[in-house]
Amino acid sequence: MNSNHHQSVMLDESIDGLNLINNGIYIDATFGRGGHAQGILDRLGGQAQLIAFDQDLSAIEYAKKTFNDPRLNLIHSPFSHMHSIINTLDLSGKINGILMDLGVSSPQLDNANRGFSFNHEGPLDMRMNQTSGLSAAQWLAVADEAEIAQVIYEFGDERKSRHIAYRIKQFQLEQPLTTTLQLANIVSEVVRGQKKKHPATRTFQAIRIFINQELSQLSAALEHSAPLLAVDGRLSIISFHSIEDRIVKRFIQTNSRQKRLPKGLPIANQAIEKMPFTDLGKQFASKNEIALNKRSRSAILRVASKN
Ligand SMILES: C[S@@+](CC[C@H](N)C(=O)[O-])C[C@H]1O[C@@H](n2cnc3c(N)ncnc32)[C@H](O)[C@@H]1O
Repeated sequence: MNSNHHQSVMLDESIDGLNLINNGIYIDATFGRGGHAQGILDRLGGQAQLIAFDQDLSAIEYAKKTFNDPRLNLIHSPFSHMHSIINTLDLSGKINGILMDLGVSSPQLDNANRGFSFNHEGPLDMRMNQTSGLSAAQWLAVADEAEIAQVIYEFGDERKSRHIAYRIKQFQLEQPLTTTLQLANIVSEVVRGQKKKHPATRTFQAIRIFINQELSQLSAALEHSAPLLAVDGRLSIISFHSIEDRIVKRFIQTNSRQKRLPKGLPIANQAIEKMPFTDLGKQFASKNEIALNKRSRSAILRVASKN
């Protein structure tokens, strides 16, 4: 398969979630290889605009080579800066929908040099944005055992987190820990794999989430989303693990008018009236899609509409 290929997850469902207006203005916060972006552009009119973000320079470079559409504006930036960039473009309050397809793309996972994969030997990098911040190897070299254990536990739900952190520090007494397979082997000596799951899956996920500050990125983007959106503008967000989904779910629920209002509480009702969103629910990938693309198994799409 082409090394630039990424099979987009819940493509139609997430674009349906945007409830596209023919000449509307949309944001794709996670361009990747542009599958969703192309799907959106295909369904929009000639005067529409799509502002696409990716913090990975290789995604933006790929897009510049392969997309030639005057309606598309490509921005190399983490999506946590979306609100200030949209402000600068004078588009605050005019956005008709924001799509987020979280996590990493297949080209990021498949390119051994990016260091995301426990299956391919490569430098232990794991940064989506290679132009800033510490690589996983650099962080593991300076972090203490307790901090490493905490990250692996919190972001990976890994029960053996303390033991793994201990082994990492023991390894580093002998030699620097710099490659993906060194880390995968350390974890495999401590954790037993389950069925089809590699023993290092949770540890790699945890370190990746930490290195890329994925949860604070997501929270910041959500917190700043309401003022960007026009009335009836949509949030359409696909997440891939429960920690991420919990953040999206809580944000939408705490900022949404509830369908059933609590009775006899005028103050609460007033507060509810001011809520910026209406929760339009969640959806999972179809059986057909899961059969064709196993990555879609864990996808949860949540949609909300700006009041
Ligand atoms: C799952 S892929 C998106 C795939 C895309 N929807 C497609 O159909 O090709 C996620 C992309 O979002 C980018 N990304 C993840 N977190 C980001 C963030 N905080 N800011 C900007 N881009 C981010 C990653 O670099 C990656 O390219």
